[in-house]
Amino acid sequence: MPSIADALRSTLGAAQLDVAQRLASACEELGCQAYIVGGTVRDALLGLPAADLDVTVVSPPDDFPNRVAAFLGARLIMASQFGTAKLEKEGSTLDLVMARSERYRSPGALPDVTAGSLDDDLTRRDFAINAMAASLDAAKWGELVDPHGGRRDLELGLVRALHERSFQDDATRILRAARYASRFGFRLDAETAKQIERSGGYLVSISPDRFKHELERVFEESRVSSAIELLSEWEMLGLTGGDFVYDETSWSGFAEACAVGSSERRLVGWGVFSLCFQTVRSSGIALRWKLDHDASMVSMDALKLRERLRVSDLNNLAPSGQVALLENYSPYAVLAFQLSTRDGTTNDALDEYRTKLTSIRPDLDGHDVIALGVPRGPRVGEALQMLKNARLDRTVESRNDETLLVRQFVTKLDQE
Ligand code: CTP
Repeated sequence: MPSIADALRSTLGAAQLDVAQRLASACEELGCQAYIVGGTVRDALLGLPAADLDVTVVSPPDDFPNRVAAFLGARLIMASQFGTAKLEKEGSTLDLVMARSERYRSPGALPDVTAGSLDDDLTRRDFAINAMAASLDAAKWGELVDPHGGRRDLELGLVRALHERSFQDDATRILRAARYASRFGFRLDAETAKQIERSGGYLVSISPDRFKHELERVFEESRVSSAIELLSEWEMLGLTGGDFVYDETSWSGFAEACAVGSSERRLVGWGVFSLCFQTVRSSGIALRWKLDHDASMVSMDALKLRERLRVSDLNNLAPSGQVALLENYSPYAVLAFQLSTRDGTTNDALDEYRTKLTSIRPDLDGHDVIALGVPRGPRVGEALQMLKNARLDRTVESRNDETLLVRQFVTKLDQE
Protein backbone atom coordinates (compact mmCIF):
# COMPACT_ATOMS: atom_id res chain seq x y z
CA MET A 1 0.00 0.00 0.00
CA PRO A 2 1.41 3.48 -0.89
CA SER A 3 2.20 6.13 1.74
CA ILE A 4 -0.89 8.21 2.40
CA ALA A 5 0.88 11.38 1.22
CA ASP A 6 1.67 9.80 -2.17
CA ALA A 7 -1.76 8.22 -2.32
CA LEU A 8 -3.51 11.54 -1.70
CA ARG A 9 -1.36 13.24 -4.31
CA SER A 10 -2.34 10.70 -6.93
CA THR A 11 -6.02 10.23 -6.08
CA LEU A 12 -7.12 13.79 -5.26
CA GLY A 13 -7.45 16.04 -8.27
CA ALA A 14 -5.14 19.07 -8.50
CA ALA A 15 -8.02 21.41 -7.68
CA GLN A 16 -9.02 19.46 -4.56
CA LEU A 17 -5.44 19.27 -3.40
CA ASP A 18 -5.05 23.00 -3.86
CA VAL A 19 -8.22 23.71 -1.85
CA ALA A 20 -7.05 21.35 0.91
CA GLN A 21 -3.64 23.00 1.13
CA ARG A 22 -5.03 26.51 1.22
CA LEU A 23 -7.45 25.44 3.89
CA ALA A 24 -4.57 24.02 5.92
CA SER A 25 -2.72 27.35 5.72
CA ALA A 26 -5.88 29.14 6.82
CA CYS A 27 -6.18 26.78 9.78
CA GLU A 28 -2.56 27.29 10.74
CA GLU A 29 -3.12 31.05 10.70
CA LEU A 30 -6.24 30.64 12.87
CA GLY A 31 -4.49 28.35 15.34
CA CYS A 32 -6.29 25.07 14.53
CA GLN A 33 -5.55 21.95 12.49
CA ALA A 34 -7.18 20.41 9.45
CA TYR A 35 -7.23 16.73 8.56
CA ILE A 36 -8.51 14.77 5.60
CA VAL A 37 -10.69 12.05 7.11
CA GLY A 38 -12.99 9.11 6.53
CA GLY A 39 -13.78 7.87 3.03
CA THR A 40 -11.24 10.20 1.40
CA VAL A 41 -8.34 8.59 3.31
CA ARG A 42 -9.73 5.07 2.85
CA ASP A 43 -10.14 5.52 -0.90
CA ALA A 44 -6.71 7.11 -1.31
CA LEU A 45 -5.07 4.12 0.38
CA LEU A 46 -7.03 1.80 -1.89
CA GLY A 47 -5.86 3.83 -4.89
CA LEU A 48 -9.42 4.85 -5.75
CA PRO A 49 -10.29 8.33 -7.01
CA ALA A 50 -11.75 10.55 -4.28
CA ALA A 51 -15.49 11.04 -4.63
CA ASP A 52 -15.32 14.07 -2.37
CA LEU A 53 -12.98 15.80 0.00
CA ASP A 54 -13.89 15.22 3.65
CA VAL A 55 -12.02 17.60 5.95
CA THR A 56 -12.26 17.80 9.73
CA VAL A 57 -11.03 20.80 11.69
CA VAL A 58 -9.72 20.29 15.22
CA SER A 59 -10.04 23.02 17.90
CA PRO A 60 -11.53 25.69 15.65
CA PRO A 61 -11.63 29.20 17.18
CA ASP A 62 -14.91 31.03 17.77
CA ASP A 63 -16.63 32.08 14.59
CA PHE A 64 -14.38 29.77 12.57
CA PRO A 65 -16.69 29.46 9.51
CA ASN A 66 -16.73 33.23 8.91
CA ARG A 67 -13.04 33.65 9.60
CA VAL A 68 -11.92 30.82 7.35
CA ALA A 69 -14.23 32.05 4.60
CA ALA A 70 -12.67 35.52 4.86
CA PHE A 71 -9.16 34.04 4.83
CA LEU A 72 -9.86 31.99 1.72
CA GLY A 73 -11.81 34.76 -0.01
CA ALA A 74 -14.75 32.33 -0.14
CA ARG A 75 -18.44 32.82 0.54
CA LEU A 76 -19.97 31.12 3.57
CA ILE A 77 -23.09 29.38 2.29
CA MET A 78 -24.11 27.61 5.47
CA ALA A 79 -22.92 27.11 9.06
CA SER A 80 -24.85 24.86 11.43
CA GLN A 81 -24.95 24.55 15.18
CA PHE A 82 -23.57 20.98 14.73
CA GLY A 83 -20.23 22.38 13.61
CA THR A 84 -20.60 21.93 9.89
CA ALA A 85 -20.08 24.63 7.29
CA LYS A 86 -20.22 24.92 3.54
CA LEU A 87 -18.06 27.40 1.62
CA GLU A 88 -18.19 28.40 -2.00
CA LYS A 89 -15.40 29.78 -4.10
CA GLU A 90 -15.36 30.18 -7.86
CA GLY A 91 -18.16 27.68 -8.28
CA SER A 92 -16.63 24.90 -6.14
CA THR A 93 -17.94 24.04 -2.71
CA LEU A 94 -16.06 22.73 0.29
CA ASP A 95 -17.69 20.99 3.25
CA LEU A 96 -16.05 21.49 6.61
CA VAL A 97 -16.81 19.51 9.75
CA MET A 98 -15.48 20.38 13.16
CA ALA A 99 -14.00 17.41 15.03
CA ARG A 100 -16.68 16.11 17.36
CA SER A 101 -17.59 13.65 19.98
CA GLU A 102 -20.95 11.89 19.91
CA ARG A 103 -23.02 10.28 22.63
CA TYR A 104 -26.04 8.12 21.84
CA ARG A 105 -28.72 8.34 24.55
CA SER A 106 -30.89 5.58 23.11
CA PRO A 107 -30.69 3.17 20.17
CA GLY A 108 -31.72 4.79 16.92
CA ALA A 109 -31.89 8.33 18.34
CA LEU A 110 -29.68 11.01 16.89
CA PRO A 111 -26.54 11.48 18.99
CA ASP A 112 -25.70 14.41 21.27
CA VAL A 113 -22.85 16.17 19.53
CA THR A 114 -20.11 18.19 21.26
CA ALA A 115 -16.76 19.52 20.07
CA GLY A 116 -14.07 16.89 20.47
CA SER A 117 -10.47 15.97 19.76
CA LEU A 118 -9.32 14.22 16.58
CA ASP A 119 -9.26 10.99 18.53
CA ASP A 120 -12.90 11.51 19.66
CA ASP A 121 -13.84 12.23 16.09
CA LEU A 122 -12.28 9.05 14.75
CA THR A 123 -13.60 6.93 17.60
CA ARG A 124 -17.23 7.97 16.99
CA ARG A 125 -17.08 6.47 13.47
CA ASP A 126 -18.52 3.25 12.12
CA PHE A 127 -15.64 1.07 10.90
CA ALA A 128 -11.87 1.12 11.31
CA ILE A 129 -11.42 1.57 7.56
CA ASN A 130 -13.39 4.84 7.86
CA ALA A 131 -11.64 6.01 11.03
CA MET A 132 -8.34 7.30 9.71
CA ALA A 133 -7.12 10.84 9.17
CA ALA A 134 -4.25 12.43 7.25
CA SER A 135 -2.76 15.71 8.45
CA LEU A 136 -2.92 18.71 6.17
CA ASP A 137 -0.46 20.78 8.25
CA ALA A 138 2.50 21.82 6.08
CA ALA A 139 4.95 20.54 8.72
CA LYS A 140 3.43 17.06 8.89
CA TRP A 141 1.63 16.88 5.56
CA GLY A 142 0.22 13.45 4.89
CA GLU A 143 0.98 11.99 8.32
CA LEU A 144 -1.49 9.16 8.85
CA VAL A 145 -3.48 9.06 12.09
CA ASP A 146 -4.81 5.53 12.45
CA PRO A 147 -5.64 4.71 16.07
CA HIS A 148 -7.97 1.80 15.24
CA GLY A 149 -5.88 -0.16 12.73
CA GLY A 150 -7.84 0.87 9.63
CA ARG A 151 -4.88 0.52 7.31
CA ARG A 152 -4.28 -3.04 8.47
CA ASP A 153 -7.97 -3.82 7.85
CA LEU A 154 -7.68 -2.44 4.33
CA GLU A 155 -4.78 -4.79 3.73
CA LEU A 156 -6.66 -7.75 5.19
CA GLY A 157 -9.93 -6.85 3.45
CA LEU A 158 -11.94 -6.47 6.66
CA VAL A 159 -14.97 -4.48 7.71
CA ARG A 160 -14.62 -4.10 11.47
CA ALA A 161 -16.77 -2.02 13.80
CA LEU A 162 -14.95 0.04 16.39
CA HIS A 163 -16.85 -1.08 19.46
CA GLU A 164 -19.55 -3.51 20.49
CA ARG A 165 -22.34 -0.92 20.76
CA SER A 166 -21.77 0.50 17.29
CA PHE A 167 -24.85 -1.07 15.64
CA GLN A 168 -26.98 -0.51 18.69
CA ASP A 169 -26.09 3.19 18.59
CA ASP A 170 -26.81 3.39 14.89
CA ALA A 171 -28.32 0.38 13.14
CA THR A 172 -28.03 2.01 9.70
CA ARG A 173 -24.41 0.91 10.02
CA ILE A 174 -25.63 -2.60 9.24
CA LEU A 175 -26.56 -1.40 5.76
CA ARG A 176 -23.27 0.45 5.54
CA ALA A 177 -21.36 -2.74 6.44
CA ALA A 178 -23.06 -4.53 3.55
CA ARG A 179 -22.19 -1.64 1.23
CA TYR A 180 -18.50 -1.64 2.06
CA ALA A 181 -18.20 -5.43 2.11
CA SER A 182 -19.73 -5.69 -1.35
CA ARG A 183 -18.07 -2.59 -2.82
CA PHE A 184 -14.55 -3.63 -1.86
CA GLY A 185 -15.06 -7.41 -1.79
CA PHE A 186 -14.22 -7.38 1.95
CA ARG A 187 -15.47 -9.74 4.64
CA LEU A 188 -16.81 -8.95 8.07
CA ASP A 189 -14.51 -9.36 11.01
CA ALA A 190 -15.84 -12.27 13.12
CA GLU A 191 -16.76 -10.12 16.12
CA THR A 192 -18.47 -7.56 13.90
CA ALA A 193 -20.49 -10.34 12.27
CA LYS A 194 -21.70 -11.44 15.71
CA GLN A 195 -22.56 -7.87 16.67
CA ILE A 196 -24.63 -7.48 13.50
CA GLU A 197 -26.42 -10.75 14.21
CA ARG A 198 -27.37 -9.46 17.65
CA SER A 199 -28.34 -5.98 16.48
CA GLY A 200 -30.96 -6.59 13.78
CA GLY A 201 -33.72 -5.69 16.20
CA TYR A 202 -32.39 -2.14 16.44
CA LEU A 203 -33.18 -1.54 12.78
CA VAL A 204 -36.83 -1.04 13.70
CA SER A 205 -35.85 1.87 15.93
CA ILE A 206 -34.36 3.71 12.95
CA SER A 207 -36.54 6.44 11.48
CA PRO A 208 -37.97 5.59 8.04
CA ASP A 209 -36.04 8.51 6.59
CA ARG A 210 -32.66 7.27 7.78
CA PHE A 211 -33.32 3.68 6.72
CA LYS A 212 -34.57 4.86 3.34
CA HIS A 213 -31.54 7.07 2.84
CA GLU A 214 -29.08 4.25 3.57
CA LEU A 215 -31.03 1.76 1.46
CA GLU A 216 -31.02 4.18 -1.47
CA ARG A 217 -27.24 4.38 -1.06
CA VAL A 218 -27.22 0.59 -1.34
CA PHE A 219 -29.18 0.89 -4.61
CA GLU A 220 -26.43 3.21 -5.88
CA GLU A 221 -23.66 0.68 -5.33
CA SER A 222 -22.47 -0.90 -8.57
CA ARG A 223 -22.41 -4.24 -6.73
CA VAL A 224 -25.88 -3.66 -5.33
CA SER A 225 -26.80 -7.31 -5.87
CA SER A 226 -24.18 -8.63 -3.50
CA ALA A 227 -24.99 -5.92 -0.90
CA ILE A 228 -28.66 -6.93 -0.93
CA GLU A 229 -27.67 -10.60 -0.80
CA LEU A 230 -25.61 -9.94 2.33
CA LEU A 231 -28.43 -8.01 4.00
CA SER A 232 -30.82 -10.79 3.12
CA GLU A 233 -28.44 -13.46 4.45
CA TRP A 234 -28.14 -11.50 7.69
CA GLU A 235 -31.97 -11.36 7.73
CA MET A 236 -31.96 -7.58 7.96
CA LEU A 237 -34.66 -6.96 5.39
CA GLY A 238 -37.29 -9.50 6.36
CA LEU A 239 -37.66 -8.05 9.84
CA THR A 240 -39.71 -5.26 8.52
CA GLY A 241 -43.19 -6.61 8.03
CA GLY A 242 -42.94 -9.00 5.11
CA ASP A 243 -40.97 -12.01 3.93
CA PHE A 244 -38.02 -10.80 1.90
CA VAL A 245 -36.56 -13.22 -0.63
CA TYR A 246 -33.30 -12.20 -2.32
CA ASP A 247 -33.34 -12.83 -6.04
CA GLU A 248 -29.99 -12.68 -7.81
CA THR A 249 -31.46 -12.33 -11.31
CA SER A 250 -33.53 -9.25 -10.46
CA TRP A 251 -30.75 -7.42 -8.69
CA SER A 252 -28.04 -8.17 -11.25
CA GLY A 253 -30.45 -7.20 -14.02
CA PHE A 254 -31.25 -4.02 -12.12
CA ALA A 255 -27.55 -3.11 -11.74
CA GLU A 256 -27.12 -3.50 -15.49
CA ALA A 257 -30.34 -1.86 -16.64
CA CYS A 258 -30.26 1.33 -14.55
CA ALA A 259 -27.24 3.64 -14.57
CA VAL A 260 -25.74 4.59 -11.20
CA GLY A 261 -26.86 8.11 -10.26
CA SER A 262 -29.90 8.18 -12.56
CA SER A 263 -33.34 8.88 -11.10
CA GLU A 264 -34.36 5.60 -12.74
CA ARG A 265 -31.89 3.75 -10.51
CA ARG A 266 -33.54 4.98 -7.31
CA LEU A 267 -37.11 4.42 -8.47
CA VAL A 268 -36.65 1.03 -10.12
CA GLY A 269 -34.65 0.06 -7.02
CA TRP A 270 -37.74 0.56 -4.87
CA GLY A 271 -39.75 -1.50 -7.36
CA VAL A 272 -37.32 -4.42 -7.36
CA PHE A 273 -36.98 -4.19 -3.57
CA SER A 274 -40.78 -4.26 -3.12
CA LEU A 275 -41.10 -7.30 -5.36
CA CYS A 276 -38.69 -9.23 -3.13
CA PHE A 277 -41.45 -9.22 -0.50
CA GLN A 278 -43.68 -12.16 -1.24
CA THR A 279 -46.86 -11.43 0.66
CA VAL A 280 -46.85 -7.72 1.37
CA ARG A 281 -49.92 -5.56 0.61
CA SER A 282 -49.50 -3.23 -2.35
CA SER A 283 -49.12 -0.18 -0.11
CA GLY A 284 -47.02 -2.04 2.49
CA ILE A 285 -43.54 -0.88 1.49
CA ALA A 286 -44.59 2.69 0.68
CA LEU A 287 -46.23 3.10 4.08
CA ARG A 288 -43.54 1.30 6.07
CA TRP A 289 -40.79 3.60 4.86
CA LYS A 290 -42.90 6.68 4.16
CA LEU A 291 -41.71 6.74 0.56
CA ASP A 292 -42.03 9.96 -1.43
CA HIS A 293 -44.74 10.18 -4.06
CA ASP A 294 -42.71 8.87 -7.02
CA ALA A 295 -41.14 5.95 -5.15
CA SER A 296 -44.54 5.05 -3.62
CA MET A 297 -46.12 4.90 -7.06
CA VAL A 298 -43.38 2.58 -8.31
CA SER A 299 -43.54 0.34 -5.25
CA MET A 300 -47.33 0.07 -5.28
CA ASP A 301 -47.56 -0.34 -9.06
CA ALA A 302 -44.92 -3.07 -9.07
CA LEU A 303 -46.84 -5.03 -6.43
CA LYS A 304 -50.21 -4.43 -8.12
CA LEU A 305 -48.80 -5.48 -11.48
CA ARG A 306 -47.55 -8.72 -9.97
CA GLU A 307 -51.07 -9.43 -8.67
CA ARG A 308 -52.66 -8.49 -11.98
CA LEU A 309 -50.37 -10.69 -14.03
CA ARG A 310 -50.94 -13.61 -11.69
CA VAL A 311 -54.50 -13.81 -12.98
CA SER A 312 -54.08 -12.75 -16.56
CA ASP A 313 -51.52 -13.99 -19.02
CA LEU A 314 -49.97 -11.14 -20.94
CA ASN A 315 -49.23 -13.42 -23.87
CA ASN A 316 -52.91 -14.14 -24.48
CA LEU A 317 -53.49 -10.47 -25.24
CA ALA A 318 -53.01 -8.74 -28.58
CA PRO A 319 -50.38 -5.97 -28.48
CA SER A 320 -53.13 -3.35 -28.12
CA GLY A 321 -54.51 -5.26 -25.11
CA GLN A 322 -51.04 -5.47 -23.58
CA VAL A 323 -50.58 -1.73 -23.96
CA ALA A 324 -54.04 -1.02 -22.53
CA LEU A 325 -53.14 -3.10 -19.48
CA LEU A 326 -49.56 -1.99 -18.92
CA GLU A 327 -49.94 1.72 -19.52
CA ASN A 328 -51.87 1.97 -16.26
CA TYR A 329 -48.64 1.26 -14.38
CA SER A 330 -45.55 3.38 -13.86
CA PRO A 331 -42.91 2.52 -16.52
CA TYR A 332 -40.37 2.09 -13.70
CA ALA A 333 -42.66 -0.48 -12.08
CA VAL A 334 -42.99 -2.32 -15.40
CA LEU A 335 -39.20 -2.47 -15.68
CA ALA A 336 -38.88 -3.64 -12.05
CA PHE A 337 -41.45 -6.35 -12.70
CA GLN A 338 -39.70 -7.42 -15.89
CA LEU A 339 -36.42 -7.72 -13.98
CA SER A 340 -38.08 -9.90 -11.37
CA THR A 341 -40.11 -12.20 -13.57
CA ARG A 342 -38.81 -15.69 -14.14
CA ASP A 343 -41.18 -16.44 -16.95
CA GLY A 344 -39.37 -16.12 -20.29
CA THR A 345 -42.44 -15.31 -22.41
CA THR A 346 -43.67 -12.66 -19.95
CA ASN A 347 -40.18 -11.18 -19.93
CA ASP A 348 -40.17 -11.02 -23.75
CA ALA A 349 -43.62 -9.44 -23.83
CA LEU A 350 -42.61 -6.80 -21.27
CA ASP A 351 -39.42 -6.10 -23.15
CA GLU A 352 -41.33 -5.65 -26.40
CA TYR A 353 -43.79 -3.35 -24.61
CA ARG A 354 -41.07 -1.15 -23.11
CA THR A 355 -38.78 -0.97 -26.09
CA LYS A 356 -41.23 -0.97 -29.00
CA LEU A 357 -44.92 -0.79 -28.25
CA THR A 358 -44.81 2.34 -26.08
CA SER A 359 -43.44 4.38 -28.98
CA ILE A 360 -45.92 3.22 -31.62
CA ARG A 361 -48.22 6.04 -32.77
CA PRO A 362 -50.53 6.41 -35.75
CA ASP A 363 -49.45 8.71 -38.60
CA LEU A 364 -52.70 10.66 -38.54
CA ASP A 365 -53.34 13.19 -35.79
CA GLY A 366 -56.46 14.90 -34.45
CA HIS A 367 -56.53 17.50 -37.22
CA ASP A 368 -56.28 14.78 -39.86
CA VAL A 369 -59.19 12.75 -38.49
CA ILE A 370 -61.36 15.88 -38.21
CA ALA A 371 -60.50 16.71 -41.82
CA LEU A 372 -61.66 13.20 -42.74
CA GLY A 373 -65.07 13.88 -41.19
CA VAL A 374 -64.83 12.82 -37.53
CA PRO A 375 -66.87 15.33 -35.49
CA ARG A 376 -64.92 17.43 -32.96
CA GLY A 377 -65.26 16.16 -29.38
CA PRO A 378 -64.90 12.69 -27.81
CA ARG A 379 -65.14 10.91 -31.18
CA VAL A 380 -61.70 12.32 -32.11
CA GLY A 381 -60.14 10.53 -29.13
CA GLU A 382 -61.97 7.31 -30.05
CA ALA A 383 -60.73 7.51 -33.63
CA LEU A 384 -57.14 8.11 -32.55
CA GLN A 385 -57.30 5.23 -30.06
CA MET A 386 -58.69 2.99 -32.80
CA LEU A 387 -55.81 3.98 -35.08
CA LYS A 388 -53.24 3.39 -32.37
CA ASN A 389 -54.66 -0.06 -31.62
CA ALA A 390 -54.71 -0.89 -35.32
CA ARG A 391 -51.06 0.17 -35.63
CA LEU A 392 -50.12 -1.90 -32.57
CA ASP A 393 -51.95 -4.97 -33.90
CA ARG A 394 -50.60 -4.33 -37.40
CA THR A 395 -53.99 -4.31 -39.03
CA VAL A 396 -52.89 -1.04 -40.65
CA GLU A 397 -49.41 -0.43 -41.95
CA SER A 398 -49.51 2.86 -43.82
CA ARG A 399 -51.05 6.31 -43.80
CA ASN A 400 -53.41 5.17 -46.55
CA ASP A 401 -54.58 2.21 -44.46
CA GLU A 402 -55.23 4.60 -41.58
CA THR A 403 -57.19 6.98 -43.82
CA LEU A 404 -59.35 4.10 -45.01
CA LEU A 405 -60.01 2.98 -41.45
CA VAL A 406 -61.07 6.49 -40.41
CA ARG A 407 -63.41 6.70 -43.43
CA GLN A 408 -65.06 3.43 -42.34
CA PHE A 409 -65.36 4.86 -38.81
CA VAL A 410 -67.05 8.01 -40.16
CA THR A 411 -69.46 5.95 -42.30
CA LYS A 412 -70.41 3.93 -39.23
CA LEU A 413 -70.99 7.09 -37.23
CA ASP A 414 -73.23 8.45 -39.98
CA GLN A 415 -75.30 5.26 -39.86
CA GLU A 416 -75.84 5.44 -36.09
N1 CTP B 1 -20.22 7.63 9.57
C1 CTP B 1 -20.45 6.84 10.67
N2 CTP B 1 -21.68 6.29 10.90
C2 CTP B 1 -22.70 6.53 10.04
C3 CTP B 1 -22.49 7.35 8.91
C4 CTP B 1 -21.23 7.89 8.70
O1 CTP B 1 -19.53 6.62 11.45
N3 CTP B 1 -23.88 5.99 10.26
C5 CTP B 1 -18.88 8.22 9.36
C6 CTP B 1 -17.90 7.33 8.62
O2 CTP B 1 -16.64 7.47 9.21
C7 CTP B 1 -17.84 7.89 7.22
C8 CTP B 1 -18.12 9.38 7.47
O3 CTP B 1 -18.97 9.42 8.60
O4 CTP B 1 -16.57 7.70 6.62
C9 CTP B 1 -18.80 10.07 6.31
O5 CTP B 1 -20.00 9.39 5.98
P1 CTP B 1 -20.40 9.12 4.48
O6 CTP B 1 -20.34 10.36 3.72
O7 CTP B 1 -21.67 8.36 4.51
O8 CTP B 1 -19.24 8.11 4.05
P2 CTP B 1 -18.14 8.22 2.93
O9 CTP B 1 -17.10 7.24 3.33
O10 CTP B 1 -17.73 9.63 2.68
O11 CTP B 1 -18.92 7.79 1.62
P3 CTP B 1 -19.03 6.33 1.08
O12 CTP B 1 -19.26 5.53 2.26
O13 CTP B 1 -20.20 6.23 0.15
O14 CTP B 1 -17.74 6.09 0.38
